[in-house]
Amino acid sequence: MTKALKDWFVPWLYTAREYNVGILDQAMDNPQNARLMLNENPIPPSEKVIEGVARALRSGNWYPDSFLQLRTKIGKMYGLGPDNVTLCNGSSDTIDTMMRVFLQPQDEFILSSPTFELFLTRAELCNAKVVQIPVREDDLQYDVDGMLNAINDRTKLMLIINPNNPTGVFIEDKDLIRFCETGIPLCVDEAYLDYNPDRPSKVSLIEKYPHVFLSVTFSKAYGFAGVRFGFVLGSEEMIAAFNRMFLPWNVSRMSAAAAEAIIDNPGEVEAKVEHNNKWMAIFSDELKKLGLRPYPANGNYMLIDGTMTGKTTAEILKAALDENIYLKKIGEIHGKNGFFRVTPGKDEENERFLSFIRSYFG
Ligand SMILES: Cc1ncc(COP(=O)(O)O)c(C=O)c1O
Repeated sequence: MTKALKDWFVPWLYTAREYNVGILDQAMDNPQNARLMLNENPIPPSEKVIEGVARALRSGNWYPDSFLQLRTKIGKMYGLGPDNVTLCNGSSDTIDTMMRVFLQPQDEFILSSPTFELFLTRAELCNAKVVQIPVREDDLQYDVDGMLNAINDRTKLMLIINPNNPTGVFIEDKDLIRFCETGIPLCVDEAYLDYNPDRPSKVSLIEKYPHVFLSVTFSKAYGFAGVRFGFVLGSEEMIAAFNRMFLPWNVSRMSAAAAEAIIDNPGEVEAKVEHNNKWMAIFSDELKKLGLRPYPANGNYMLIDGTMTGKTTAEILKAALDENIYLKKIGEIHGKNGFFRVTPGKDEENERFLSFIRSYFG
């Protein structure tokens, strides 16, 4: 008797949590709605980037190489050599690959909750167990003791997002060191660090702690979410391991050229960061005036505690959508309903958001 197709699939294909990207299709079909629900950058790539991509496309018949020149350039930005850098198709590629580098079925991966949910999906697709420790109740800081106490013989990987998504908070240096000192592989995800020009990267950790690696993306401050580009920084042994697991040619000539063009034009990123940080400050002031509680704005997103208003998250999102604004749903935190997240968009969209919160919460 032949088996049904579903019985051929690995059992965890459908027990793993799904990462739902349906909102992207909805947003494309409804361009009248402001896309303030994803941590995207509202400013498109410059002409310099477009010209760089067009030039690369002329050799689009050749397979990509390992981009030594670009890896050297990125390495220099961090005081590292090219063999401490490997490139990827956005940091989601790193998220997927790190699970396959470190986790066997039933191994455990420790991270906090709430978090960027793709981490859960990709670990569960390796049939690994995700161990989520809720952030602390009031300041939403990592529960460092809780996470460290969850370590056992099956723990093979841990994650610190710095600043964290969706809470926006930075972990304290002394706490980060406690994670490093465990000797367990640790991903430090710096997806949003570029919004904080005064804060240095934690890259120096990789010298003392070879089991620590950094994940960086150009999807945020650089505005390349649709281009797809990121990289991993680590010891040479760590990078060689990622290189074995990454697909060859995971980075197209066009996205590498886009990355090189924007690195050579730093003013473009500065302008994007300035736009974001200006609006984050305005949002934060206005939300506080209305009696809501915005959390620290260290990325391009702001977690907002609206629980004191008596409105549920679903009600807030629905009311915003009625005003042509997409906001991000945040599940209950410590049993409380009424959290949501917003990312600054273009000026007009941000004004729309301000009008919405004034009339809805005012
Ligand atoms: C913490 C964090 N890491 C990684 C990513 C994925 O970014 P990329 O577009 O580079 O795949 C995101 C996306 O929102 C994120 O929030």
